[in-house]
Amino acid sequence: MLYLILFGAPGSGKGTQSDLLVEKYHLTHLSTGDLLRSEIASGSPLGTTLNEYISKGNLIPDAMMIEMLSKEIDKHASTSKGFILDGFPRTVEQAEALQQMLSNREGSNVLLLEMTVEKDELIKRLLKRGETSGRSDDNLETITKRLEVYEAKTKPVNEYYKTRGLHVGIDGMGTVEQIFDRINQTLKQKI
Ligand code: AP5
Ligand code: MG
Repeated sequence: MLYLILFGAPGSGKGTQSDLLVEKYHLTHLSTGDLLRSEIASGSPLGTTLNEYISKGNLIPDAMMIEMLSKEIDKHASTSKGFILDGFPRTVEQAEALQQMLSNREGSNVLLLEMTVEKDELIKRLLKRGETSGRSDDNLETITKRLEVYEAKTKPVNEYYKTRGLHVGIDGMGTVEQIFDRINQTLKQKI
């Protein structure tokens, strides 16, 4: 079973490329951000708490995210051809927990694709999306914070996969189609 981690800073194109990959390879897309936003949209008390973290650009506590992702994998494992993980793992602790989860599942094939995009381009993309997205975190102040949190807490996850030979870098600059082609070239060689 393939576990393809689409990794990169806010605005690097994780969601956009996930949609294209799902269409082509029929994988199950698990986006922790989308799961959190649907909880917020439900109007539950939990959603209100989650939105306090998200609107400030802070990460949700690891334990909660690990439980959420683990449940989603369990839910789809028997019917899925493989997973795209978008937005998880986002800390080294989450990477360790994922490794632990998958060690109990035979034949797990993990690959992390890191999409790298220049900071100015990330901000430009997110501000543009913020004009219509309604996302509480698509404003300049929160975007700035999200990028700081990415550098401090999330980027170190790359090393975790590099040392295990499970990391590939993808140039995330250019058109959506160009980036999708690069990802496909990599997948041809790796899976
Ligand atoms: P999450 O929803 O994961 O957001 P993010 O990582 O900040 O990333 P985005 O969804 O904003 O960007 P993306 O990389 O998906 O890019 P997209 O394709 O949309 O997380 C939100 C929050 O939830 C976190 O801040 C945290 O609080 C919490 N959270 C989530 N997971 C967590 C976890 N595991 N642990 C703890 N907390 C967690 O593209 C962006 C825009 O650019 C779009 O408008 C798109 O159309 C456009 N675009 C895409 N590609 C291109 C291109 N090549 N050229 C021009 N425009 C492009
Ligand atoms: Mg996204």
